[in-house]
Amino acid sequence: MPKDTSKFYNIEDLRQQAKRNLPHGIFDFINGGAEDGIAVETNRAAYTNLKIKNRVLIDVSKRSTETEIFGKKIAMPYGISPTGAAGLVYYGGEIGLAKAAAKMGVPCTVATNALLPMEEIAEAAGGNLWFQLYMWADKEMSMKFLERVKAAGFDTLIVTVDGPVGPNREYNKKNGFATPLKYTPKLLAQLLVKPNWCYQVLLKQYVNRGEFKKENYPEELERSVLSAKEEMSVVKTDSQCWEDLRKIRDMWKGNLLIKGLQSAEDAVLAADEGLEGVVLSNHGGRYVDCAPAPLQVLAETKAAVGDRLKVIIDSGARRGSDLVKAMALGADMVMSGRPTLFGAAAAYEAGAYRALEIFHTEMDRVMAQLGLNSIDEIGPQIFWNPPEWVPQPAPLLRAAAE
Ligand SMILES: Cc1cc2nc3c(=O)[nH]c(=O)nc-3n(C[C@H](O)[C@H](O)[C@H](O)COP(=O)(O)O)c2cc1C
Repeated sequence: MPKDTSKFYNIEDLRQQAKRNLPHGIFDFINGGAEDGIAVETNRAAYTNLKIKNRVLIDVSKRSTETEIFGKKIAMPYGISPTGAAGLVYYGGEIGLAKAAAKMGVPCTVATNALLPMEEIAEAAGGNLWFQLYMWADKEMSMKFLERVKAAGFDTLIVTVDGPVGPNREYNKKNGFATPLKYTPKLLAQLLVKPNWCYQVLLKQYVNRGEFKKENYPEELERSVLSAKEEMSVVKTDSQCWEDLRKIRDMWKGNLLIKGLQSAEDAVLAADEGLEGVVLSNHGGRYVDCAPAPLQVLAETKAAVGDRLKVIIDSGARRGSDLVKAMALGADMVMSGRPTLFGAAAAYEAGAYRALEIFHTEMDRVMAQLGLNSIDEIGPQIFWNPPEWVPQPAPLLRAAAE
């Protein structure tokens, strides 16, 4: 495992190292999207197709990427999205991600599906930790679970709502990486060619905790991911509706957000329900394969909700310039899950921190190149020849009208 993370120059370098380190099925599980991978490509293309103009002879010597969200200062407008997978890249990976985020000064979201208990992560890492909730079929159980989240000290809750049914990821089945997890000869063959992974994940997991479990599930549900009693009854969520969210709103007095919407219509409904924010997301292209990129619906969403709630965006950000582009379209913050997972797979906590450092350095550099001193100065004036889903900046409209 490399100690010097400075040789990873960008997120793609971390992804390539993750590919070398992880068993094939685990890498595919993290890297892949749904069905044909179209949404994964759409997410990247939305960012890379937006061209930004430099500006010259502007004093940018006092520039800063700092901003704040929900009353807390953050080093840049970026946070780590929830993923249940950090413990699969190295044992204790959830703590590594959270510590990296705390060191950088950005939020990190702990997932319901984490392989470590939320209390352990919070105690070991501290920092600006948010919690992500998947509601279960038993709604009462979900409500009781929230008491535990509150008691653990989380003040920001993201309810993920884009999975009324499970996703279609055929490669997982082909790789033998599906729930219930079975140690088939095919899976074992992939694991055994990665002895370091077997030591860092399998051995440490079994020595420290026994078989893999979703440690945050209530006792009644807590089960091994090897268990055949998986899915259906417990995680069946196709009856969820706004009424369920209202119950959560009634009991959760902290910041409440939903994640996984892809339309201004749903964001307006969220604002009507009194939520503090939404996370525009297509789950990194892991659910609806022909979904738009959240970036493409960001401006229309922001126009529809204004300042009624925070509009956070995730799915596809890989460069500091992507954070600048999203902020120019009205985002309050950007999130992503894979970059820090790749980082953690490449070099544990230091690798996750390296991913954050790359975002930060790149954002700082591009702000200077664009003549921007602060987050507040970022706006649609940075775009050159933007597509129709980018609002025209006011001065350009004025010039056109004259
Ligand atoms: C391996 C993996 C596991 C994930 N698990 C969860 C999860 O448990 N809960 C959730 O809300 N989103 C989950 N997500 C989605 C992320 O929160 C986020 O929406 C996605 O990673 C954004 O795409 P990006 O990382 O490519 O930018 C997961 C994503 C990945 C890649």
